[in-house]
This record gives sequence, structure tokens and C-alpha cells, in this order.
Amino acid sequence: MEHYFTNNQNLKSEIRTIDFENKGIVFTFFSDLGVFAKNKIDYGSKVLVQEIIKNTKNKTSILDVGCGYGFIGIVLSKILNSKVTMIDINKRAVHLCLKNIEKNKVNGEAFVSDIYDNVHEKYDLVVTNPPIRAGKKVVLNILKEAKDYLNKNGELWFVIRKDQGVKSVIKEISDTYMTEVIRKDKGFYIVRAKTADN
Ligand SMILES: C[S@@+](CC[C@H](N)C(=O)[O-])C[C@H]1O[C@@H](n2cnc3c(N)ncnc32)[C@H](O)[C@@H]1O
Repeated sequence: MEHYFTNNQNLKSEIRTIDFENKGIVFTFFSDLGVFAKNKIDYGSKVLVQEIIKNTKNKTSILDVGCGYGFIGIVLSKILNSKVTMIDINKRAVHLCLKNIEKNKVNGEAFVSDIYDNVHEKYDLVVTNPPIRAGKKVVLNILKEAKDYLNKNGELWFVIRKDQGVKSVIKEISDTYMTEVIRKDKGFYIVRAKTADN
């Protein structure tokens, strides 16, 4: 079976749009075959975005790791009035993300990157709904290495489901971060992680 993060040149294209509303702002996302949550915004991503909006202020730069078509980064950028950088290993996802940046008129950029390979700056927030299907090693790399891309007082936020092993992930990153579970909703855990020097 093809996973959504493979780069399959032969994959058909069937572009569709998904609307989402937050704080009176209506967002429109182009989506397609071969990307995560192609027909419907992921519930975990929605809850993650809600909690970040509720619990952050004065964060002016965001890195969305494994951005897909850009839901998390684009909504946060607009509502928090921040610049967003979005990265994904999936070329089609990045292409859609670029279209969605333009469509939703946000201050953002998107490019292909295998985890942080092409990232060279630091950010106030690193946010991710990590690719569980890519395996635990990739997920832990995304989370642990995030600290090298955070400004002072920066925060890493992520969502993982209980049945996807969130508790063991939290344990495995506890050497790197102080973590706090901000919300549990339908098995989705929303986690905020700060480095010890914060
Ligand atoms: C669970 S999806 C989340 C997508 C999007 N952020 C959302 O909330 O709808 C995880 C994303 O990680 C991407 N991904 C998988 N392996 C990756 C890697 N090694 N480096 C960067 N992104 C990766 C996938 O292509 C996928 O778009």
C-alpha cells in the first residue's frame, strides 16, 4: 500500500477543496489524492490548533513539520499573526501547501525537507502532527531535534493519540524537554514541550 508520504509520480490527481472556519475567518484548503487527511481536516490537528491559539501569545515565527497541505501552519499563521515555514517530505503536499498559502493570504513559505534537512533557522513555535506511519524513529527525531530549531522561550507542540503510544513518546523525550499534556480529547493528546533552559 502507498503511504501518504511517498513521492509517487504516477499517482492520479483529483484536486478538491476543504473549508474550515475559526474566529470568523473562513479558510479554504486545496487537497488531493496521496496526502494526509485528503477529504477532511484531521480531528487531532484541529484540537492542536485550538489549544495553541488558546495558550500562546507573542510568538511571531512558526515551523510546521510534516505540514501536509498546510492546515496547522496556515491557520496558526493567520490567527496568531505570525510568519510560518512549512516542510514536508511529500512533494505533492508541499505543492498544495504553496497553493494554500496563496489562497489564504498568509505570510508563509513551504519547501520539501526530510525532517530538518533543509531547515536553517530558529522559530518561536515548532508544531507537528507527526507521521506515525513513518515509524517511531522518524517521530522521535522530529520531536527531539526540534530543540535545535527553537528560539529561547520557544515551544514545541504536538498531537499524538493514546493508542499510538503518546505516553511512551513523552517518556522518551523527557531528557530533552519538560512536557505538559494540555488537553486530552477523544484519545488525542495535545502536548506542549519546553526545553529546560526556558
Ligand atoms: C500526520 S500527517 C500531518 C499532516 C498535516 N500537518 C495535517 O495536520 O493535516 C504527517 C505528515 O508528515 C509527513 N512526513 C512523513 N515523513 C516525513 C519526513 N521524514 N520529513 C518530513 N515530513 C514527513 C507526511 O508526508 C505527512 O504529510
